[in-house]
Amino acid sequence: MKVAIIVFSPSGHTLKVAKIMEKSMTSKDMQVQLLDITRNEKIFRENKMEQYLKEKIEPHDLICVGGPVYAGHFEGNAKNIIKTLPYPDKKWGALAVPFVTYGGLHSIIALKEAGNLFHKSKRMNILGMKIAAFHTLTKTLAFKINENKPGKEALHIIEELVERIIEITNRDFSEIKDIQKSFDYTPFTSEKFGCRLLGQRVFRKIVFPKGVEIDYDKCNGCGLCTERCPVNLYEMIDGKPQKTNPYFECICCAECYHNCPANAISFDLTRPERHHLSPKSKHHKMESSQSAIYPLQDADLSNDKILEVD
Ligand SMILES: Cc1cc2nc3c(=O)[nH]c(=O)nc-3n(C[C@H](O)[C@H](O)[C@H](O)COP(=O)(O)O)c2cc1C
Ligand code: SF4
Ligand code: SF4
Repeated sequence: MKVAIIVFSPSGHTLKVAKIMEKSMTSKDMQVQLLDITRNEKIFRENKMEQYLKEKIEPHDLICVGGPVYAGHFEGNAKNIIKTLPYPDKKWGALAVPFVTYGGLHSIIALKEAGNLFHKSKRMNILGMKIAAFHTLTKTLAFKINENKPGKEALHIIEELVERIIEITNRDFSEIKDIQKSFDYTPFTSEKFGCRLLGQRVFRKIVFPKGVEIDYDKCNGCGLCTERCPVNLYEMIDGKPQKTNPYFECICCAECYHNCPANAISFDLTRPERHHLSPKSKHHKMESSQSAIYPLQDADLSNDKILEVD
């Protein structure tokens, strides 16, 4: 079986998961093409996602698309991957597996959104996966959420995903079912309802009102922010980073901020958001299960119920 995996991963966790998937699939005689579109000049500086994917993606039976959860949503550029896929034909497979990584707090509707987009692209969702990862927004806070994840704890889940893919794709095509409904796993609490209502842009305006600001007096011209930006917003002009990309906007991933050696970039999470992430907040409840494959199997279901009662 031939598999195409496409991933957008500003901080590298989703890419790490994709690489483990690739390794596991290859060891089981699947032919895998892994395409990481993060920081791709053609896509983000020339705005040619569709053309690029058409040129690069090789014929396959199954397509897996992965990206991070931002504000409970499937991140916008990861969404765009699925939106630009041609309808299935001889080259483009009709079977799909979306996967996400998230900071362990709220994956809310991310997998559901990815599944819906695959459905609109006339593909059949056969499985979906969420993997708990380090919450990158806690990198410079006093407390960290899920530091060093994904790690060994994720291996058996990714392995199980690959085994279930093999089991499903070995069935007669008429017996393969679309399991998209299983991605609607988040109950409607008021907070989660809020996330459903708020788009990613609105969220960014509320949580990072000032966005990213560069203090050019402190900047030493190293160019690291330009190299790290997942959507290629900046280029170095006269030795300083300048925002010249007309097509894309800042997604507030904080990669530039975390990598600036001169402390020249400010990225201020608002106080309410910091409190919201903090273990002291009443909203700070880790999602259960942390990592899972959907649809859950019977054993997973009972496990989930026990965790929820806790
Ligand atoms: C702007 C932003 C919003 C985020 N929103 C959420 C969220 O709603 N829930 C969550 O659990 N984690 C959230 N995270 C954490 C990321 O989903 C997590 O770190 C993910 O693994 C990042 O993927 P990547 O390393 O592939 O970029 C957010 C991170 C950023 C930067
Ligand atoms: S990473 Fe910091 S010091 Fe380096 S170019 Fe960017 S703003 Fe300047
Ligand atoms: S400017 Fe900084 S925060 Fe914004 S997308 Fe680029 S790296 Fe991320």
